[in-house]
Amino acid sequence: MTVKTTMQTANLMRDYVWPDDDLTVIPDWVYTDQAIYEREIERIFHGPTWNYVALEAEVPNAGDFIRSNVGPTPVVVARAADGSINAFENRCVHRASEFCRELSGNTGEFICPYHQWTYDLKGNLIGVPFRRGMAGKGGMPADFKVQEHGLRKLAVTTHRGVVFASYSDEMESFPDYLGPEVLREFEATFDGRKLKVLGHYRHSLPGNWKLYHENLKDPYHATLLHTFLVTFGLLVVGNRSLMLADGSGRHGVMASAKSDAKKIAGDAKKEMRAYKEGMTLNEPRFMDFIEEFDSEWSVTMATIWPNLIVQREMNTLGVRQIVPNGPHEFIMKWTMFGFEGDDEAMTRHRLRQGNLMGPAGFLGLEDNEAIKFVQDGMQRVPDGRHLVKLDPAQAAGTADTLISESAIRAMYKHWRAAMGL
Ligand SMILES: [Fe+2]
Repeated sequence: MTVKTTMQTANLMRDYVWPDDDLTVIPDWVYTDQAIYEREIERIFHGPTWNYVALEAEVPNAGDFIRSNVGPTPVVVARAADGSINAFENRCVHRASEFCRELSGNTGEFICPYHQWTYDLKGNLIGVPFRRGMAGKGGMPADFKVQEHGLRKLAVTTHRGVVFASYSDEMESFPDYLGPEVLREFEATFDGRKLKVLGHYRHSLPGNWKLYHENLKDPYHATLLHTFLVTFGLLVVGNRSLMLADGSGRHGVMASAKSDAKKIAGDAKKEMRAYKEGMTLNEPRFMDFIEEFDSEWSVTMATIWPNLIVQREMNTLGVRQIVPNGPHEFIMKWTMFGFEGDDEAMTRHRLRQGNLMGPAGFLGLEDNEAIKFVQDGMQRVPDGRHLVKLDPAQAAGTADTLISESAIRAMYKHWRAAMGL
């Protein structure tokens, strides 16, 4: 009983001050408090950010649409007859229902199932049944104008076939938003070839959405947690690698060059319990790397603030969209792709190698578990804080060593400014 009282008092009196103004210590309320989560939606997802919503290849023709999200907020991405891509809230202006029920499809208009209010492919209201009532009775007020009651529309931009939306009408261009270094890596993956969607999967993860960014700004864990990564030489201490952060700190790219597992230094192996000597693959083609990108890296994992991961893991390519669902859970929506012009063998290779990642991927499942462990630790031990102190030589920003947390600190430098905390 005493404990419960203490916690309630603590929550009521919380004033959200970052401890000692020190980025090497993160308070748990950043990940666990509903009030913080709601402010994130307002200031980050609905604020001045470009949010990933779709690939152009998912809506290639006029009338094509796909359901998506900006933060937790449901949106529809639709291509209109004039070829433009539009994004608007999936929420009827009449009674707020999520009117678009299909995950994707092709249509001439959207009709809300509840009262059949109808919208065009740009989100304009074009039809209200019984607007004038019946036999002179009922209906909408005489001064109701459909032109004034369209869906809430978002700003849209596309870059190399990737579609982003924003609640802000004053966004910088997407290249400026990324900054030159992260843009270079983005364009190495989206190199101008037309994308071909290979499939989707989605799953929920029992953790705060920011932990996924942090996992991919944390090269330290990669060599310790992931048996597969280490044993088959994808990322090992001593590999050529880079943990890039953009100037603002919000975006990042974890990049590495694959090495021959046989050449891993003996002292590095000793530090890495994950290394399993003599483990081999039954399917040797699985780890083939077919050079196709203008890049010195065989693997890049880009974290594009606030909701996109771009995966270029040798030849398996995908985008992951983070959809937060409260402070303790997020949904991950994956779209795997190749390029038009890939032959059947290349498509098979991309799909086969895709087993590295995904909800139960040889690497991915371990990250998913780790994120749950962290959230559990924070939720079950109240008022905690934890450490991101690795690599003190680099306060916040790009790291040229894997044994660093400076990219996580860079993200929180940005997060604190965006949140006013
Ligand atoms: Fe990982």
